[in-house]
Amino acid sequence: MTNPYAHEHIAPYLTQEQLSERVSKLAAEISADLQPYESTIFICVLNGSFMFYADLLKHIEGPTNTAFLGVSSYEGGTSTTGAVRLTLDLTIDITGRDVIIVEDIVDTGLTMSYLLESLRSRKPRSLKVCTLLHKPARKKIDVPIDYCGFVIEDVFVVGYGLDFNQRYRDLPYIGVMSFDDEQAS
Ligand code: IMP
Repeated sequence: MTNPYAHEHIAPYLTQEQLSERVSKLAAEISADLQPYESTIFICVLNGSFMFYADLLKHIEGPTNTAFLGVSSYEGGTSTTGAVRLTLDLTIDITGRDVIIVEDIVDTGLTMSYLLESLRSRKPRSLKVCTLLHKPARKKIDVPIDYCGFVIEDVFVVGYGLDFNQRYRDLPYIGVMSFDDEQAS
């Protein structure tokens, strides 16, 4: 049987060691800014940030609440459709609370801009953004980023939660995808 994915290649980009070292430093940076006696709500933006979120939260020192939100902007392929859709809403009220959005990657900024607008309307006391990766080359809209793991070049990355057509999320490292043909869109 032929492998239908044989034209897809993944080159190592960020190793497990680089990720774990950076994630624990990011957690220390965030922990130093937390309110000591009130728990901060950390929002995991599904699906892409599940692995980053789990590792980050293990290292946060201070009271936390967990919350999950689903968004979709890619309908397959490697570029955003621009139309962001909420696929899963929060089950907790964030009014008057300190909130940190935990995202896998800020690429064009459209998803984060949509999230910020949607969450600001719920009147949190504070709203911050933490992203593992930032790809400024593809920016379409400016979004404030309070905590950033790595600024990366204009490459399509997979692994550590990030996917291509729902595959490769389980890789423990981040790799750059390339294709034998230029069919992917
Ligand atoms: P944006 O709206 O263009 O900023 O894209 C945000 C979303 O697109 C992220 O949450 C990811 O799910 C996805 N995305 C952007 N760049 C990549 C990439 O290089 N690999 C995998 N997913 C990506």
